[in-house]
Amino acid sequence: MKSLSSFLIVLAVLMGCSPKSAEVKEQKGSGPFLHGVASGDPLYDRVIIWTRVTPESPGDSAVVAWEVSGDQEFKSSLVSGQVVTDAGRDFTVKVDVGNLQAGTPYYYRFKSAGYYSPVGRTKTAAQNADSLKLAVVSCSNYEWGYFTAYQKIAKKELDAVVHLGDYIYEYAPGGYGDTTIGRKHEPPHELLTLQDYRTRYAQYRADPDLQAMHASHPFIAIWDDHEIANDVYTSGAQNHQENEGSFEDRKRAAVQTYYEWMPIREADQLYRSFEFGDLVELIMLDERLEGRTAPASSISDEDFNSPERTMLGAGQLSWLKSTIENSEARWKVIGNQVIFSDINQDMVFPENPKNLDSWDGYPAEKKEVARFIKDFKNILWVTGDTHASWAIETMVKEVSLAPLGVEFGTPSISSANYDEYSGLDTARRAENLFQNFNPHIKYANLTDHGYFILTLRKERATARYYFMEDIREPNGAEGKPKEFWVNDGAPVIKQYNVYGF
Ligand SMILES: [Fe+2]
Repeated sequence: MKSLSSFLIVLAVLMGCSPKSAEVKEQKGSGPFLHGVASGDPLYDRVIIWTRVTPESPGDSAVVAWEVSGDQEFKSSLVSGQVVTDAGRDFTVKVDVGNLQAGTPYYYRFKSAGYYSPVGRTKTAAQNADSLKLAVVSCSNYEWGYFTAYQKIAKKELDAVVHLGDYIYEYAPGGYGDTTIGRKHEPPHELLTLQDYRTRYAQYRADPDLQAMHASHPFIAIWDDHEIANDVYTSGAQNHQENEGSFEDRKRAAVQTYYEWMPIREADQLYRSFEFGDLVELIMLDERLEGRTAPASSISDEDFNSPERTMLGAGQLSWLKSTIENSEARWKVIGNQVIFSDINQDMVFPENPKNLDSWDGYPAEKKEVARFIKDFKNILWVTGDTHASWAIETMVKEVSLAPLGVEFGTPSISSANYDEYSGLDTARRAENLFQNFNPHIKYANLTDHGYFILTLRKERATARYYFMEDIREPNGAEGKPKEFWVNDGAPVIKQYNVYGF
């Protein structure tokens, strides 16, 4: 049964007028807005704004008013409206706000049941900017540590945050985490159903550091595997067993929850691209659910080199090619879940000379992409997944002995690093081996959590890595950054350490 206050607001909406302030508590504070606000998918003239309300009763529907302003005090509301949400979409609210100006910061807030939400800040895509600043992140495991890196990103000046996946983890408490710091996964079992996934997102989004980041910057996100299940592909996953029910049902539940909770535009497919004038085209790929076939069990599999083994699938691959071909942007930045460049890991993992979950496990399609990008300058891969930092001159030896661009891998926000399960000495040795046996790897760091900020200017693209000192305590410090750059037209990585930031 609807509560009386909800009923009054619905009535007001039906009558075509806004909820009257006298009828409701004009009170600032979180009220029903326990999961903060967020924005994302910025275009030149529009951006998604998001929130969720916690209803008094799950049977309720809730009317949520929204407004967007050019100033933080909302002296003038540029555009506003209201929507109704209910249990069918887990009481999330998503509005695609249009008629905005390019490259402009905006403030937004929601109001429901007499409460204002926190104020969010967002920014539309810049059409004529001299530079673009993106924070690049991946792999935030609630159980393994505090989201300190998200807190630091909230305070930076940025155009957007790019999340390359593993925004949540699907495991039961202790399944892939350290529960000794008291951050135990909810629900207390592996995620299988719609309600399970919704509960997990609600837990993550109650985190103050994650909320602060979302409230500060627009978000551009793709999923990797853990938003569904470990090492997922279109028809199964390493972490989905027969006794866990239908994989298709589980996948549908995970995808539905992702679209409910993430500030991304509704579409039939996740892959999409964002233009920032003639400076940057940001191409976000779906390397999990769109066209990925089951992984090989070994490089000796009979069909290892078969063109039937795909990461993107035919439709997405042809879209990728035409997007690159038609782009007039100087930098083509590819948001990529798993490492694209060749990596020989024979000396580190003799039993697994190639990472079969990465592009190295899908050699035919990888070579096709490599042959295609060979004709283009300034292809810059940004990559998640590995819980490690990488600066790589993109090498696909079977196609070219010259680099085909560069690849920057972002560390985990808070998922286990190599040293955290194998020890520091082993990790340091592995870093050296990776670089010694792969001369195109200019930097490998298997021990630090954090993120990097990618700054793109006409003449140069720079990745500045920020590492957290300790994520096992809340509000930890950010250590000294490390910086790499590549000049326009020359895929050669340069580096120096930066002090004093
Ligand atoms: Fe991860």
